[in-house]
Amino acid sequence: MRISILGGTGEFGEGLAIRWSRAHEVIIGSRFKEKAEKEAKEYAIKAASAYLEDMKGNIIGMENSQAASIADVIVLTIPAQYLYNFLETLKDKINKDAMIISPVVPITKKDLKFFYDPAIIKQGATSAAEEIAKILQTDKVIAALHTIPAKKIADPYHRLNYDVPFCTDNKNIIDQFVKLIKDLSIHLNPLYVGGLDLASLVESLTLTILNISINSKIWNLSIKFVE
Ligand SMILES: NC(=O)c1ccc[n+]([C@@H]2O[C@H](COP(=O)([O-])OP(=O)(O)OC[C@H]3O[C@@H](n4cnc5c(N)ncnc54)[C@H](OP(=O)(O)O)[C@@H]3O)[C@@H](O)[C@H]2O)c1
Repeated sequence: MRISILGGTGEFGEGLAIRWSRAHEVIIGSRFKEKAEKEAKEYAIKAASAYLEDMKGNIIGMENSQAASIADVIVLTIPAQYLYNFLETLKDKINKDAMIISPVVPITKKDLKFFYDPAIIKQGATSAAEEIAKILQTDKVIAALHTIPAKKIADPYHRLNYDVPFCTDNKNIIDQFVKLIKDLSIHLNPLYVGGLDLASLVESLTLTILNISINSKIWNLSIKFVE
């Protein structure tokens, strides 16, 4: 698979790129071609030293629009407040058949508290994933990975033993998505929550985690449901 991580030069993109490069062709997208190429090179070195001969894929860097046009899978690792303009500018370049994975969490912070606030994307927005589906006019959007801490995913030796609740309106892409999650770590456990009209529930789980972290001084938390 060719996976383009748009805004992949940031904290969250790094771990996804390193882990997926074991089996996939990964493209780091950036607004700046040179930055993308530089980060991609650094991630590729980390991946090669972690996976050795098990590394079957690679990591390269490109400007976002080029990366978006040739991808089978697009991951939007863009901060929520920039998402609307970013997609409006890029929407004609995006491969219409691509699966779009959104880990985007719309967050506002007030008085040391974190709140779920999709209006930072656009007035009236109900979740990041629904807004993405509207702008790109595709049903291939999957809301997922919001509760995976960047620091944990970026460490290729860390056992990611977490649940991954996800939402999508297109059940035909679920098998392919589950395989992609397992390619990040066999210990990740994807759990289907429902359609994108429930995406706000999944996105806002992160806010509970962040507020626990601030008040309980426990960092890089994730979630696992128990029976
Ligand atoms: N960090 C986490 O632990 C975590 C966990 C789960 C989900 N998420 C979600 O994943 C997304 C990325 O998180 P992150 O921590 O990686 O974010 P980040 O490091 O703050 O930013 C990611 C990238 O976004 C690009 N960017 C910045 N401003 C932009 C603008 N105005 N227009 C277009 N692109 C811009 C930058 O890439 P260039 O400068 O190279 O263009 C930057 O490297 C967020 O939506 C976040 O909610 C994060």
